[in-house]
Amino acid sequence: MRVGVLTGGGDCPGLNAVIRAVVRKGAKDFGDEFVGFRDGWRGPLENDVRELGVPQVRGILPRGGTILGSSRTNPFSVDGGVERIIDNLASRDLDALIAIGGEDTLGVATRLSDLGVSVVGVPKTIDNDLSGTDFTFGFDTAVNIAMEAIDRLHTTAESHHRVLVVEVMGRHAGWIALHCGLASGANIILIPEWPFDIERVCNQVESRFATHYSPIIVVSEGAIPTTMTTELARDTVDAFGHARLGGIGDWLAREIEQRTGKEARAVVLGHIQRGGTPTAFDRWLATRFGLHAITAVHDGDFGTMVALRGTEIVRIPLAEGTGELKTVRHELYAEAEVFFG
Ligand code: F6P
Repeated sequence: MRVGVLTGGGDCPGLNAVIRAVVRKGAKDFGDEFVGFRDGWRGPLENDVRELGVPQVRGILPRGGTILGSSRTNPFSVDGGVERIIDNLASRDLDALIAIGGEDTLGVATRLSDLGVSVVGVPKTIDNDLSGTDFTFGFDTAVNIAMEAIDRLHTTAESHHRVLVVEVMGRHAGWIALHCGLASGANIILIPEWPFDIERVCNQVESRFATHYSPIIVVSEGAIPTTMTTELARDTVDAFGHARLGGIGDWLAREIEQRTGKEARAVVLGHIQRGGTPTAFDRWLATRFGLHAITAVHDGDFGTMVALRGTEIVRIPLAEGTGELKTVRHELYAEAEVFFG
């Protein structure tokens, strides 16, 4: 078979491991040929490809980012975009397309599949907010990077008797904040799912200082105080209508300083969480996703997405994975509250 592969959305540790597994298994077990589309949906839209075969995937397992490049191109917001993609796939004699991405990239894959394109999806996002899969690859790496950063921030917070606010990624879901906050002994964790009361946060800051320890607060970029109606964001909006978030960490540090008189500093981890080499777990998950995705192609199981359930890789309809985001349930968040303050 001739199979196209693309990676879309924010880069994510493990993307190269998926590409490698798809190509290695496809070439060895099925004699497949591959076409690598550059930069997410921009590739098939503009027929921009690169060579993709076993030599091209040698040595990429531990490498972060994606050898195919990525973008947030949305073909449904481009005039005639969908028709161009369908024509370009046909012009390259492709039998199938493997799309590796998050809610937006796989949302496009879902709609193209409804239009008859033979596509299989692989879920990726450091945010871990895709439904139908227990975990997405990239998440474990992001959590470990954030945990290591917070371990370091503890000592500087203690030495200077400061509040340290750590802003982590997580647009709609607080999975990164919750997991790295628990793993690193944060004193307050604030996530998008549950608006927070700044008075309560300040009380927790003061009670932490009362025990002669300095508070560490982990906040998701999408967390919202009860006094605001939307997330803090910059002006720019991407092709899928998402604003570029940022600013809640600084806002919190300022409010805390003003209200408690304690020095507070904000650290924004940003893209450090997405960069560099994947953890063993993410390499394992990404590799298995790749192996199962190319098998799904050969089974003709299009319109599906591979997913992790326990330790098994299963296939679910693409629409199930992209229909609704997986957010943090209240009971799960409440478990962490025993450590707050
Ligand atoms: O979707 C993953 C994610 O890392 C979000 O947590 C974050 O809001 C977004 O990507 C940032 O994307 P970009 O690098 O395109 O600004």
